[in-house]
Amino acid sequence: MATVLITGANRGIGLELARAYATGGDRVFAACRKRAEAKALNALAAGSNGAVSVHALDVADGASVAALAKSLAGVPIDVLINNAGVNGGPRQSLSDTDFDAWTDALAIMTIGPFRVVQALLPNLEAASAAKVMTVTSQLGASTWPFGGSYAYASAKAGVNSVMRALALDLKSKGIVVSLVHPGWVKTDMGGAGADITPQDSAAGIHKVIAGLALETTGTFYKWNGDIHPW
Ligand SMILES: NC(=O)c1ccc[n+]([C@@H]2O[C@H](COP(=O)([O-])OP(=O)(O)OC[C@H]3O[C@@H](n4cnc5c(N)ncnc54)[C@H](OP(=O)(O)O)[C@@H]3O)[C@@H](O)[C@H]2O)c1
Repeated sequence: MATVLITGANRGIGLELARAYATGGDRVFAACRKRAEAKALNALAAGSNGAVSVHALDVADGASVAALAKSLAGVPIDVLINNAGVNGGPRQSLSDTDFDAWTDALAIMTIGPFRVVQALLPNLEAASAAKVMTVTSQLGASTWPFGGSYAYASAKAGVNSVMRALALDLKSKGIVVSLVHPGWVKTDMGGAGADITPQDSAAGIHKVIAGLALETTGTFYKWNGDIHPW
């Protein structure tokens, strides 16, 4: 049994990751911004015989991250999944740019995962071979062949860089750090016309995480296990 912490676990890919790990017999710390409104996640926790617990966490809020770390002091975390994300808002073109939404995107998707890793490092070190997986996007790869999406793409490119540096810094501690593009997924973010279900994406990510090894720390994967070109 592994202990798994997932951010943004109240809907979309995060919720299905929580379900997948709980179904596999693992202990899931499911984090979300608004516990009272997390109906589907609360229902999952209620039916899980204690396998899933719900925790308040806003990854862009240092006090919230510190409070979660305090509440989990001494608990080893085998798998940390930085999943929380936003789309950066509707105005992120060259001619019309919402700079506040861009700042939020960076706070949530670039700095947030770093904050969470930093705060939970004692928990990761307490596990025997911890894994950190960050859900990024193909839009954050330099191989992405389109313009636009300035806020979202830069926030994901930023976290790719953060995680590559963390992979180097944490290798000597035996902690694997990796990135995954989850596919184009039918969630609130991906929309109904997307390619795959959140269940399929979560199942793929679950499998990718199971196969992570320290020798290949820092690798950027696709949800189906293929290596993603940087
Ligand atoms: N769907 C796709 O096609 C696709 C493609 C590439 C990458 N991704 C990435 O996959 C991840 C999951 O996306 P999704 O499709 O499942 O999106 P989603 O359904 O919109 O869910 C986003 C999740 O992130 C949470 N979140 C947002 N800001 C947060 C914050 N400050 N602190 C904590 N949680 C926060 C949301 O919580 P609230 O309910 O409180 O807002 C929600 O649980 C994201 O990182 C996204 O960028 C998705």
